[in-house]
Amino acid sequence: MQPKIFVCRRLPEGAMQALEGAFEVECNPNDRVLTREELLAGVAGKDGVVSLLTDRIDDEVLDAAGPQLKIMANYAVGYNNVDVAACTAHKVAVTNTPGVLTDTTADLTMALLLATSRRLCESDAYTRAGKYEGWAPLLFLGTDVHHKTLGLMGFGRVGYAVAKRAAGFDMKILYHDSHPCPPELKQKVGATCVDRETLLKESDFISMHVPLTPETRHLLSTDEFALMKPTAYVINTARGEVIDEAALAAAIKSGQIAGAGLDVFEDEPAIHPDLVANPSVVLLPHIGSASIETRTAMGMLDYDNLRACLIEGKVPPNCLNPEVFN
Ligand code: DGY
Repeated sequence: MQPKIFVCRRLPEGAMQALEGAFEVECNPNDRVLTREELLAGVAGKDGVVSLLTDRIDDEVLDAAGPQLKIMANYAVGYNNVDVAACTAHKVAVTNTPGVLTDTTADLTMALLLATSRRLCESDAYTRAGKYEGWAPLLFLGTDVHHKTLGLMGFGRVGYAVAKRAAGFDMKILYHDSHPCPPELKQKVGATCVDRETLLKESDFISMHVPLTPETRHLLSTDEFALMKPTAYVINTARGEVIDEAALAAAIKSGQIAGAGLDVFEDEPAIHPDLVANPSVVLLPHIGSASIETRTAMGMLDYDNLRACLIEGKVPPNCLNPEVFN
C-alpha cells in the first residue's frame, strides 16, 4: 500500500507526476489557499503533507492529522509558517527546500532593484497607455545602479548569490550578518562585512536576505530608515515581516528614503495602501522563486524528502528536526 499524502495546492506538473507515482495523493482541488477547515480535513489520516507558506502548521493541524503523520514537507526554504517545536513534539519531521531557489531568487532581487531604480514599471504603464510622444531629456529619469553601494542585510545563500550578480554591475558590496562568512567567499565577490549602522548609512540599496525569526522581525523600522540616505532604496525578497511596513510607507511618503522594491509583505496578501499609491515603489506578488524550473525543483525536493521518510525509512535530506528520528 502506498503512503498517503496531502498536497495543499497543486504544484508544477513534473513534481505532481513524481508524487502521484509514489504516493496516494489527495490534493487541494482548487487553485487557492485552503480554508482552515479544508486544511484540517485534508491532513486527516495522512502519512505526509506538502505544506505551503500560506498554511499555518501548528498543534491544531497536527492533532487533526492524527498519530500516523510522519512528515511535513514545506514547499519553501522559509518555514516560519511551521511550528517546528510542535511538529517535534508530535514526532513529525519538518523539511524545507533549500538551495534550489537561490539563483532564481537572486535574479529576481536584481530585477527588482533595477526596476525600482530605473522606474521600469512606471515607464511600461506610461508607454502602454499611449502617452509616449518621443524621446525626451527628462523622461523617467531614474538613478544608476552601477558603481553604487549595495548593503546586504544577511549574507547566506541568497545574499551571496545577489552579491555575485551585483559584482557584475561594479557595485560596492557591504553586508551585515550575525554569522561569520568564510573569508574566501567574501573575497570572491569583494564584499565587506560592516556593522548594521554603517550598512544603513552608506548603502544606496539595502536588500533583505535574512530568515524571519523573532530576532529579525522589524529589522528595519523608523530608527533604521532615519539612518538611511534620502536617495536609498529598500529591496525585500525575504519575508515581509522583517520590515515594519507602516514605517517603510511613511519613510517613502515623507521623502526620508527614495523608494522600495518589494516582493513580500507583512500581512500578505494585504499591502499597506500608501505603498500601493506610491509610484516610487515596485510591488510584486511574492514571485522570488517563481520559475518553472525552480518551482519544479522545489517539488522534487519535497518528493525526495517524503520518499526518504515514508518509503525508505530514512532521515529526509532536508530535515530541520532530525531529533524526531532518535
Ligand atoms: C521560500 O521558499 O521561502 C519563498 O518565499 C517561496 O519560494
